[in-house]
Amino acid sequence: MDKENKEFGLFCNDLPTSPATDGRIILVTGANGYVGGKLVPELIARGYNVRIMVRHDLPEYKERWPEVEVAVADALNFDALSRALKDVHSVYYLIHSLGLGHKKFESADIQIATNFRQAAENQNVKRIIYLGGLGDTNAYLSPHLENRIMVAQELSGGKIPVTVLRAAMIIGCGSASYEMLKNLVKNTPVFFIPKWAKTKTQPISIRGVIKYLVGVLEIEATASKNFDIGGDDILTYADNLRIMTKVLGKKRLFLPGLISSPSLYAFAINLLTPVPGPIIRVLVEGCKNEVICQNNDIKKYLDIELLSFKEAIYRANLIEKNILISSERKI
Ligand SMILES: NC(=O)c1ccc[n+]([C@@H]2O[C@H](COP(=O)([O-])OP(=O)(O)OC[C@H]3O[C@@H](n4cnc5c(N)ncnc54)[C@H](OP(=O)(O)O)[C@@H]3O)[C@@H](O)[C@H]2O)c1
Repeated sequence: MDKENKEFGLFCNDLPTSPATDGRIILVTGANGYVGGKLVPELIARGYNVRIMVRHDLPEYKERWPEVEVAVADALNFDALSRALKDVHSVYYLIHSLGLGHKKFESADIQIATNFRQAAENQNVKRIIYLGGLGDTNAYLSPHLENRIMVAQELSGGKIPVTVLRAAMIIGCGSASYEMLKNLVKNTPVFFIPKWAKTKTQPISIRGVIKYLVGVLEIEATASKNFDIGGDDILTYADNLRIMTKVLGKKRLFLPGLISSPSLYAFAINLLTPVPGPIIRVLVEGCKNEVICQNNDIKKYLDIELLSFKEAIYRANLIEKNILISSERKI
């Protein structure tokens, strides 16, 4: 476990559920990704037998998490995937190929989900927990949001019970959304707000996401169910920028934008933030779609306290400056 996790507490310490630590193996895919990297130490701390699936083994995994078993597999390789899934009880599905860029990620993610469902069935996996994206399934969605829903459908189309958690932007130190907002506010004196920046979104803190991910594993009744997860604030993207401006103590001018081309905005954001271009592009394309919870069913199973958007931003900022030390800190 990370030293800082041991010393400064974990997100799930106050989770009202109890771990089922009967030696079952929990596989975390995407373990070196943003969400996976925060989930692994929580599972270890709760006594689970954790296996991580990564495409390349690096010494840092054993340094960070000496207790974990490392399975090296590309999910596009069926045989390697099957080996990674051997004797696994439950799987966290956190794979996303966004880094491949526009168009390419869509087919890769569907192929991976198909492989995964088949390999997991062959290996007699008992549960899959997938973290996907929010979006009104009856609306015309951006290719990225549509893809997250198609992956959920593909995974759920087999015999294994799948729990789907759907989230909008996740706020925490190192998350793409937080980095985009923060760098935009730091580097832009004047904001030209396009119409689509008035779209509503329901962000959630990384702390809340991890609690839900661990909580559903520990509540058997959440198997085969879909849940929308979001914080208590429903805000526009322009609100998000204004709140970030306040938290960072900056003075910024907000003016109506005359141009609304998402490609142009994505290009500008790419120049102003360190977030990779392909990720910015798909995230900006998705800004035209409302991403708010369509139900609060998760609260019937797990009524946890969530940070407000402002608190989540504030906290991520303190962690980044090393004023607050937590497992949320960027690795
Ligand atoms: N981050 C957010 O703000 C957010 C918000 C809402 C929902 N979500 C959902 O949460 C999930 C996890 O997101 P994230 O932000 O943690 O993603 P991420 O940081 O981009 O991580 C994605 C992971 O997928 C792995 N991967 C990609 N292609 C693979 C392949 N062919 N075989 C094996 N592994 C592969 C990557 O490994 P490599 O390092 O080897 O590429 C990486 O570990 C996604 O489903 C996403 O839609 C995230």
